[in-house]
Amino acid sequence: MQVLCFSQETAINCYNYVWLEPNRVYKGEKLFQELENKVCKHQFLQKYCEQVKNNLSVRRFEHVLRVTKLASEIAISNKFSQEDYEATVLAAFLHDSARELSKEEMFKRAKPEIKAEENHFMMLHGKAGRELAKSWGVDNLPVLEAIEGHVLGVHTTNKIAMAVYIADVSEPGRGVNNEIRELGFTDLCAAYKQAIAIKINYLKSKSKEIHPHTLKIYEEICDFK
Ligand SMILES: [Fe+2]
Ligand SMILES: [Fe+2]
Repeated sequence: MQVLCFSQETAINCYNYVWLEPNRVYKGEKLFQELENKVCKHQFLQKYCEQVKNNLSVRRFEHVLRVTKLASEIAISNKFSQEDYEATVLAAFLHDSARELSKEEMFKRAKPEIKAEENHFMMLHGKAGRELAKSWGVDNLPVLEAIEGHVLGVHTTNKIAMAVYIADVSEPGRGVNNEIRELGFTDLCAAYKQAIAIKINYLKSKSKEIHPHTLKIYEEICDFK
């Protein structure tokens, strides 16, 4: 049976697997340990926990935990089905698994196809993360698309990927994009469009190279051409 939730307050009654308390801020070593225990003990994340942890520094792993928690809250607020909720949480947990690979390792998992990717190999960590997840046995397509798309953008047809994208750019540890986080609870698509627009504007303002895929997404979904 598919169960829908109607607010964060009632979520705990709706999903028997909501284990990350909404509105609780996990800060400090002890609280992080608690958050890690909750995430890593969970049935569908448990088997990936060691791999994710082994691939990341403590600082990055904490970011991943915060993204996982926020993505789960966004999914609940937007009344995702149980299946989509689980996919969102899994994608959020795996999204940065390739973030700290060396250039050589990155190129092994994801071949650069354009000059920009060759010059900025970090652009490929979504694509490499997708390959890594596949090698760990993940075969859910929206999850794989969400992992890949968290770097360069996704289409608005994939709400799981939009939730992960929003959670990644607005998790509280970043100290920015609070409005996007708030909007993400009530209007997933509007929050996502804003997140893409902010990214493009930031890159333009710093005269940084913009990946053509991100630009394409921006031009498709935003009215700011
Ligand atoms: Fe990332
Ligand atoms: Fe991230």
